[in-house]
Amino acid sequence: MAKNRYDRVMLKLSGEMLVGEQSMGIQPAVIARFAQEIQEVHNTGVQIALVIGGGNIFRGLAGASRGMDRAHADYMGMLATVINGLALQDALEAIGVHTRVMSAISVNEICEPYIRRRAIRHLEKGRVVIFAGGTGNPYFTTDTAAALRAAEIQADVILKATKVDGVYDRDPALHDDAKRFDTVTYMEVLQRGLKVMDATAISLCMDNGIPIVIFNLNEPGNMRRAFQGEEIGTRVYAAQN
Ligand code: GTP
Repeated sequence: MAKNRYDRVMLKLSGEMLVGEQSMGIQPAVIARFAQEIQEVHNTGVQIALVIGGGNIFRGLAGASRGMDRAHADYMGMLATVINGLALQDALEAIGVHTRVMSAISVNEICEPYIRRRAIRHLEKGRVVIFAGGTGNPYFTTDTAAALRAAEIQADVILKATKVDGVYDRDPALHDDAKRFDTVTYMEVLQRGLKVMDATAISLCMDNGIPIVIFNLNEPGNMRRAFQGEEIGTRVYAAQN
């Protein structure tokens, strides 16, 4: 395999993608495929930190839109990310990838607490570190958790694996002539309200100079391409050149 472009990567996985053909929950075949793709890139020696969403189990905003207290619903969403983190840990360890799950909320009986310096040591020792529990605060998304942890551990990039193949100027499902960006600046994302990540996450990345690559994980080989720095999907960064 060609050399990786990055030394330390923050990989953001959507919880929703774990659903597969089901209506909710975790489809074993899907999480096993994710684990294999992570193993393939991990074998190249790159350090991998991971944040996984919880949308396949419970999404705080959706709960709030149905009348739940927002903070309460967000705490439920955080617990969902712990479940997904443990599921991913199980799938990775089943194929021999050493992992540590670190949670932003205290659930010490089932995973480690988040301690920044310890997370970095785990990465240096070649363990895949799964950050669970979001930022530990309501009103923040798991994209913001990925941006925050990426800044803290000084990741070279955030690779956001999704089911779409990048960022469009408008909804491609509604507009045939929607244009996909190869690159776009943080400012453009914020000013045009492009659906990449929420504004808090984008601002954190902008302030800390962390590029974001959005790519389609359903396309075979894309995980490897993203880690090698091939131009796939959309790259969000400071200035067009
Ligand atoms: P080194 O210090 O590099 O050896 O890291 P390590 O993670 O192997 O050492 P440690 O002795 O801290 O952890 C051993 C195992 O216990 C690992 O699987 C950790 O994930 C787990 N572990 C450590 N702290 C906690 C905790 O607070 N809660 C839970 N549930 N597990 C923990």
